[in-house]
Amino acid sequence: KASSAVRILEVGPRDGLQNIRTQVPTATKIELIKKLAATGLTDIEATSFVSPKWVPQLADGAEVMHHILNLGSQNDLRFSVLAPNLKGFENAFRAGAKEVVVFASATEAFSKKNQNCTVEQALDAARAVVKQAKQNNLWVRGVVSCIFSDPYSGPTDPRDVLYVVEQFVDMGCDEIGLGDTLGVGTPKRTQTLLEVLLKAVPADKLTGHFHDTYGQAVANVLRAYELGLRTFDSSIAGLGGCPYAPGAKGNAATEDIVYAFENSGIDTGIDLQKLATVGDWISRQLGLPNNSRAGAALVAK
Ligand code: HMG
Ligand code: MG
Repeated sequence: KASSAVRILEVGPRDGLQNIRTQVPTATKIELIKKLAATGLTDIEATSFVSPKWVPQLADGAEVMHHILNLGSQNDLRFSVLAPNLKGFENAFRAGAKEVVVFASATEAFSKKNQNCTVEQALDAARAVVKQAKQNNLWVRGVVSCIFSDPYSGPTDPRDVLYVVEQFVDMGCDEIGLGDTLGVGTPKRTQTLLEVLLKAVPADKLTGHFHDTYGQAVANVLRAYELGLRTFDSSIAGLGGCPYAPGAKGNAATEDIVYAFENSGIDTGIDLQKLATVGDWISRQLGLPNNSRAGAALVAK
């Protein structure tokens, strides 16, 4: 029987910041990660090793890693970084990463816009990364984008999601992230897709990554929990979006899902009040409204 506790994977420093247009100071990114780590979060997606031409905001990934790695050895913290190809892997490995994330879209149009290649080419690049990563004993997550819909070509066929998930399993990914890039999922769509995927992959290999464009992300997380998933990506203050998915909003806010779980008797290991303070702090640093309802409510008290 699955344990009731959940693992929250904080993606704010990566997904949250990649879409911010003004350059966020490297020191602010490092401080954000330190503050997040102090809330009890154990898994933090710290940055990306992608082309700086494509995502200039995260061009300082190596410097960010340099300043946070010693936090990890002190308290079992796990930092993951995006590395979609060998060049990214080499840079990530050199920077000390022990956990890497490869990604591919379930759809061709987004693949072309986000990675400048076909789905098959993205999978080939991922396969090369996973091979290197496994030879060096790194943990690897494969993330599938556009699980419900593609911003350029419309609804996704669940069989295309299943195909990419199975490719990630076959190449040796330790876990598979399901990315609702556009944030158009609903609990019903989440259930329909998971019923397909769970026939092929055990729930403990899957992680949920729901963007909140239509305000459904918390509901989707809870439905996925009911269906057996125990790891969820979320972003502090609901930051996030993808530069290549126009109109998409941030991820499920970490404060909101921690509030939902903790007040349903499900342990997250995270100090919600501290988390809310971090969400308020980073929103102010970025000059953005706080997109977490729970976070905003808690700091107003
Ligand atoms: P490309 O331009 O086709 O790459 O980009 P290329 O192989 O032709 O190389 C061109 C130049 O880029 C070369 O340099 C390479 O060395 C360099 P030059 O010889 O011209 O000086 N290059 C790199 N530099 C640094 N790091 C690298 C790297 N790779 C090549 N890793 C590429 C192809 C995949 C690199 C590009 O399209 C890219 O970086 N895409 C990533 C875009 C991205 O990060 N998107 C956001 C993350 S995904 C996401 O947000 C979704 C997710 O949250 C889940 C969800 O919500 O669904 C994960
Ligand atoms: Mg995302």
